[in-house]
Amino acid sequence: MEVGRPALGHYPASMSNHAGAGENPLAGKTVLLGVCGGIAAYKAVEVCRRLTDAGARVLPVLTRGATRFVAPLTFSALAAEPARVSLFPRLGASGATAGTGSSDPAGTGSSDPAGTGSTEPVPHIALARRADLVVVAPATARLLGSYAAGISSDLLTATLLATRAPVLVCPAMHTEMWEHPAVQDNVALLRRRGVEVLEPDEGRLAGGDVGKGRLPAPEAIVVGAAALMGRAQRAAPARPAGELAGVRAVVSAGGTREPIDPVRYIGNRSSGQQGYAIAAELLARGAQVTLVSAAAMEPPPGADVVEVETAAEMADAVLGAAASAGVVVMAAAVADYRPASVLEEKWKKSAAPVSVALVPTIDILAELGAHRRPGQVLVGFAAETARELAELGRRKLEAKGADLVVANEVGRPGTGFGSQYSRAVIVSRERTVDLGLVDKRALASRLADAIEAVLAASAAKTANEAHTAEEGGCAAGT
Ligand code: CTP
Repeated sequence: MEVGRPALGHYPASMSNHAGAGENPLAGKTVLLGVCGGIAAYKAVEVCRRLTDAGARVLPVLTRGATRFVAPLTFSALAAEPARVSLFPRLGASGATAGTGSSDPAGTGSSDPAGTGSTEPVPHIALARRADLVVVAPATARLLGSYAAGISSDLLTATLLATRAPVLVCPAMHTEMWEHPAVQDNVALLRRRGVEVLEPDEGRLAGGDVGKGRLPAPEAIVVGAAALMGRAQRAAPARPAGELAGVRAVVSAGGTREPIDPVRYIGNRSSGQQGYAIAAELLARGAQVTLVSAAAMEPPPGADVVEVETAAEMADAVLGAAASAGVVVMAAAVADYRPASVLEEKWKKSAAPVSVALVPTIDILAELGAHRRPGQVLVGFAAETARELAELGRRKLEAKGADLVVANEVGRPGTGFGSQYSRAVIVSRERTVDLGLVDKRALASRLADAIEAVLAASAAKTANEAHTAEEGGCAAGT
């Protein structure tokens, strides 16, 4: 399949995180970005940035050659994901992991249980399965040759052979190499197999030469990636069962309202968008979702919706549904206080100042944390106006006994309540992942990844305990 040069600006606004994610096929997608060694590797840094700006989660994989031109740390920092270099569990260059995802790009001094796969025994297979799309930019003649011949000589080629995701390769090399029949045959073979190959540009090459073989502009590569992702999405049926098949999840959403009298209430600015996006993401991954909603929005198809208004109603609904749930996400902005009593008649105006006595509501998340079912994953939110999101999120995680807390900034224009975007960090017991300014749907996807990681770690722990108990039993019996 040949890609004609995509017209620049074909996805004008949608290439930014500030566009409607509906038009942007990369939003919320996991894109594996392969980078080979060549002078054009510096442009891959910009490709990485533009992919993340488009709302994609980028998994950078660098060849050893690439690390001579660009630092893995640059990609780790831009993608908020460890840049992987090797197939083997040994630390690579600075900021890179050796394919196990066991480094600590956020500098938290911790391992990586919340989504990057510290327990990946076979990193190329794990990466290949996680990717919705693979982009290799720049791709060297060696990469094209190995890929065409089915030779896995490093993490990138092994991942390319293992993935079932659509692949876009963007060759860059000297004109003589590009025109060599061996390279042209490899390109033709890859195209016949369905790989998209972006034609190189004509222009300045390494060493001051001029000719065909120059890596296209990062913008063109991202436009090509989005076009391929869009075509793949239209061609593929929706994810059938999903990684969360069989999991029951409860998601709360919206802001509760605490009545003062029949016409007035104490409320907050939460729109419910984030909770609804999480419910939709968990449904797409196969979970059975009960959405306890204090928001007036069209629910995602397939959710069991329980409409509530007050914190007390939300507590009843959430605590009831949580009794049989494996995952509970408290995305709702629950009122911390309610009026001590509700007037039966409308409160009449008077000239004198008035005050309303408030009493605390039940803290649903803390209650869930205190009486949690074994193996249940608890997710809380921390809506904060202060900048120390990570620290405040971690405090809330500990105080409420949650596994994950999404700390997000509220009270500023363009992020938080009522906005399509959030400035957010995901805090787990072991690490903090700063998502920066992110589309709420992309945030939902990253959170779902983190939930899956906690579920997997908990299942592994249970299996291990069962195994140990069994061994103990055997030993006792012999
Ligand atoms: N929450 C809850 N029940 C409440 C209040 C909050 O379950 N009565 C949950 C929210 O759904 C959210 C988390 O607790 O997941 C954090 O809520 P937040 O209001 O940000 O924090 P508080 O604990 O209320 O502390 P503060 O307002 O002082 O920051």
